[in-house]
Amino acid sequence: MVAPSAQTRVENAWWKTRKFKRFYKNIKMLILVTGGAGFIGSHLCEVLLDQGHRVYCMDNYTTGSMDNLSGILHHPKLTLMYHDVTVEKELAFRADQIYHLACPASPKDYQSDPIKTLMTSFLGTRNMLEYAKKVGARILFTSTSEVYGDPLVSPQQEEYWPASSHLFSPTLP
Ligand SMILES: NC(=O)c1ccc[n+]([C@@H]2O[C@H](COP(=O)([O-])OP(=O)(O)OC[C@H]3O[C@@H](n4cnc5c(N)ncnc54)[C@H](O)[C@@H]3O)[C@@H](O)[C@H]2O)c1
Repeated sequence: MVAPSAQTRVENAWWKTRKFKRFYKNIKMLILVTGGAGFIGSHLCEVLLDQGHRVYCMDNYTTGSMDNLSGILHHPKLTLMYHDVTVEKELAFRADQIYHLACPASPKDYQSDPIKTLMTSFLGTRNMLEYAKKVGARILFTSTSEVYGDPLVSPQQEEYWPASSHLFSPTLP
């Protein structure tokens, strides 16, 4: 593993300071969560609302459900958007941050319609990146450790180092 540079070490130290945490705690943002009605997305929406942010939850409910959102459905800062991320759309709001989680996660679901899964991964991500660029939002994309190939241990802990660092590259030491 490459050692972090001096500048990165200084930045990391700053992010951990109490001053920064206090400063960050007081910033309220408009946050778009795609796949917000899914397993991870619904919990994330809950946490973000708890932190005082305004949340736009975008989903097409293929694997997610309203039931996952039952605890926050009537929250005044939550806006639900029924939308498929593969479809281009002018969004009429400016998000500060985007958590892009829209994609079926369980093998049974993503294998049931492989072409749709590919479209969601590719077109959906492209659409969200275009939107992020347009409004200057930071975007977090969730993928899967499956891209590193079959893991040697399961479940993988944070310390686990995949056998191959990239799907198409040779294994690193
Ligand atoms: N659950 C895990 O353990 C895990 C681990 C690593 C990575 N991830 C990744 O995190 C993301 C979310 O995982 P999850 O477990 O919450 O899955 P999930 O299936 O519960 O949630 C995905 C959500 O995305 C929505 N969705 C799917 N296709 C869509 C589309 N075209 N347009 C709009 N919405 C769409 C679904 O309806 C669902 O609400 C996935 O990308 C997954 O690969 C999950």
